[in-house]
Amino acid sequence: MSGKSLTYKILENHLLSGNLKTGEEIEIKVDQTLTQDSTGTMVYLQLEAMNIDEIKTDISVAYVDHNTLQAGFENADDHEFIKTAAAKYGIVYSKPGNGICHQLHLENFGKPGATLIGSDSHTPTGGGIGMIAIGTGGLDVAIGMASGSYFVKVPKIVNIKLSGKLNKWVSAKDVILYVLQKLTVKGGVGKIIEYSGEGVESLSVTDRATITNMGAELGATTSIFPSDKSTYEFLKAQGREDAWQELKADNDAVYDEVIEIDLSDIPPLLAKPHSPDAVDSIVQLEGTKVDQVLIGSCTNSSYNDLMKVAAILKGNKVHPDVSLGISPGSSNILQMLADNGALGDMIQAGARILECACGPCIGMGQAPATDAVSLRTFNRNFYGRSGTNSASVYLASPELAAIAAIKGTMVDPRTLDTNIDIKIEEPEKYYTDKNYFIFPSEEGKKSVVKMGPNIKPFPINGPLTDTVEGKIVLKTGDNITTDDIMPSNAALLPFRSNIPHLSKFCFSTIDENFWKRCEENNGGIILGADNYGQGSSREHAALAPLHLGIKVVITKTFARIHKANLINSGIVPLELVNEKDYDGQDQMDELVINDLVTSLKEGKNIKVYNKTKDITFEVKFNGSSRDVDILLAGGKLNYTKQGLEG
Ligand code: F3S
Repeated sequence: MSGKSLTYKILENHLLSGNLKTGEEIEIKVDQTLTQDSTGTMVYLQLEAMNIDEIKTDISVAYVDHNTLQAGFENADDHEFIKTAAAKYGIVYSKPGNGICHQLHLENFGKPGATLIGSDSHTPTGGGIGMIAIGTGGLDVAIGMASGSYFVKVPKIVNIKLSGKLNKWVSAKDVILYVLQKLTVKGGVGKIIEYSGEGVESLSVTDRATITNMGAELGATTSIFPSDKSTYEFLKAQGREDAWQELKADNDAVYDEVIEIDLSDIPPLLAKPHSPDAVDSIVQLEGTKVDQVLIGSCTNSSYNDLMKVAAILKGNKVHPDVSLGISPGSSNILQMLADNGALGDMIQAGARILECACGPCIGMGQAPATDAVSLRTFNRNFYGRSGTNSASVYLASPELAAIAAIKGTMVDPRTLDTNIDIKIEEPEKYYTDKNYFIFPSEEGKKSVVKMGPNIKPFPINGPLTDTVEGKIVLKTGDNITTDDIMPSNAALLPFRSNIPHLSKFCFSTIDENFWKRCEENNGGIILGADNYGQGSSREHAALAPLHLGIKVVITKTFARIHKANLINSGIVPLELVNEKDYDGQDQMDELVINDLVTSLKEGKNIKVYNKTKDITFEVKFNGSSRDVDILLAGGKLNYTKQGLEG
């Protein structure tokens, strides 16, 4: 008999159906969910559409941390909607100003051995406390709350075995940058990264959370650390020691892959523009002039991180050419910094204290100047994400960032003639007030969900009919991205909960009359080519076409996630049996698909009649029988509703 990994132990405890084997789809019990406001409005619209009385999870939290800027009424409307929906369904609401969802979740709700799904890609931060925390699409979170379960393909398990100790000026951020350098941004796809080894002991829970947070940059499903004495200490300091249990892999656990890392081998590192895996040593970058330094984000905004920053800033001044911004991860951390004088040290050094929120990480302010170099403790430095396309964004630890803020250039701290003590002791007692949380109450459950004018109901499909007719309202070329289908820009961002408005911009960069053609023809069919729907996973790229009445998309091939989103929306994704048939069809040809339901059920090829040209061609559906059931129901929401109604 061989032993079990920690991941398998937790999954086994939560297994509702399926076989716990790599590549197989399993259904697991969901203990907790989280949403942030940017994806959350859609999640709560979906929950509303599911018509449930209350949620089935132990704890679900709705955080407002992304779009906290209220330059128009739209974001404020979204916050109000989320707040009232949370009250109605028994969800905890975290007000803007409380902090960043992942830091807050770790402090207030994270629980070793539990499962968490969240509509934010950095949900794996929770793995730092020993939970299985997975970032998913919003609909999965809504379904997770309504049904208490989540379907996932069992990933491969990679063990990163840590030995040794970090040297001075090297921190958890450098560990994950080191892993990114080794594995790249694709290295974690289809995998869960499980950390173990004696090196784990020297890392605090918030250090571990920094590492699991950026596991998202590896593309990993999630990352997880064992739950040990440090986990107990952290929970105790948060007044939640009852949530603790010891958790670790068996000594003879079996893994798909094992990577050994000696922590003492890791130097201070930075990720260069424009990718988190473009990692280089500080030695190579020393002397680079820095214009902006930003400290915070869900990666590096813990008490420990900010105390190190304060220790470095104390008695120093921010360089005249640098703008230093600091956003604490939570209101309680800010309170602690205020109480112990660290906040004063930051202010006296000339730092700009920003709101406890995502802020500049999501482009809410602090866009760098033209051609500026911005050094950030964040997790992503993709081209243009800062709001300034010509800026060069580097990622590094809080230590490196704080030193650069004082010196005005990137400096190898090991060369500094200084005896600054950055060994910060974990606090024995965190400030644990809940000032910014609204907890569910019986009274709240009677509340009416407030939908301001910017919030429109979620589009829902009807059950699939056996005959589908419609015009080819758009014929596209190869490699259409989800950005092409549903552009996302500063002007459109406040309308995430307004699909009717957004849909007027569907395909707008390719053909601005697309939405009008759909309206005139009562929807229709899209004919795509190769790799249709590549790029970001945004659900809006399926929801906007759904609103416009698109029933079927026929292509040569689909990108995987977009195809799944189409199925979730009840739009049938069909692939040409003979790719040459693509050339024979033109935009505005009228198509008739007969026996669609029957053919899908029987797994047969489907005949499409082109009425305009009087020709017939064949298409096929590539998917599981569960996918077919979802399509027949008219999308995942209806399918789940049917299941819930029994
Ligand atoms: Fe927020 Fe940036 Fe994290 S947007 S959730 S701080 S990645």
